[in-house]
Amino acid sequence: MKFFIDTANLSQIKEAEDLGVLDGVTTNPSLMAKEGITGQDNILKHYVDICNIVSGDVSAEVISTDFHGIVAEGEMLASLHKQIVVKVPMIKDGVKALKYFSSKGIRTNCTLVFSAGQSILAAKAGATYVSPFLGRLDDINQDGVELIHQIVHIYRTYGYTTQVLAASIRSPLHIVKCAEAGADVATCPLSAILDLLKHPLTDIGLAKFLADAKKFSESPVR
Ligand code: E4P
Repeated sequence: MKFFIDTANLSQIKEAEDLGVLDGVTTNPSLMAKEGITGQDNILKHYVDICNIVSGDVSAEVISTDFHGIVAEGEMLASLHKQIVVKVPMIKDGVKALKYFSSKGIRTNCTLVFSAGQSILAAKAGATYVSPFLGRLDDINQDGVELIHQIVHIYRTYGYTTQVLAASIRSPLHIVKCAEAGADVATCPLSAILDLLKHPLTDIGLAKFLADAKKFSESPVR
């Protein structure tokens, strides 16, 4: 399973890249706003800055909601850098635009997906990635991980090549559950990736090893 980081924060992206496990980045307009990135020129420059930190795919989201607007915006975003993947919302004109981009060889990430039915439309329209938002489903008392299982099963059954990009991940457990479900990618906040490191027995075991090593190094050499 690939790891993408779900942020527009450059220092967090660098930290994840330095860890050596990062395969790409997803952003959205809310994440850009959170970093105070506003105005089209700044936003476009920020996408290029992100592409220069990582070597994998970087999702950049359109804000148009009509077919011609989505196409114009998506073509402009795709021309920024070869790593850019155009993020398109799961709406009627979005599905039409996914089909158009697919025919032009422009890679896409269909976002705001909350049902298996929506994921079938995204795959049939030729999306490169589909982004089911599992955390937001959990937030409304629906089983987000179950949706990942469902989509993976449907895509494998029919041989759809669209990659399942599990999004809206909140915890390390979500990451493990998505791996079990067969997701192709998990896009996560840095905190969830770093939380995968943690286990109290690792800390206790390491402290004991280091204490024993110190005793040994302090004993006289025979
Ligand atoms: C996906 O690409 C989205 O940016 C993201 O995962 C949404 O997550 P949230 O529900 O934590 O906002």
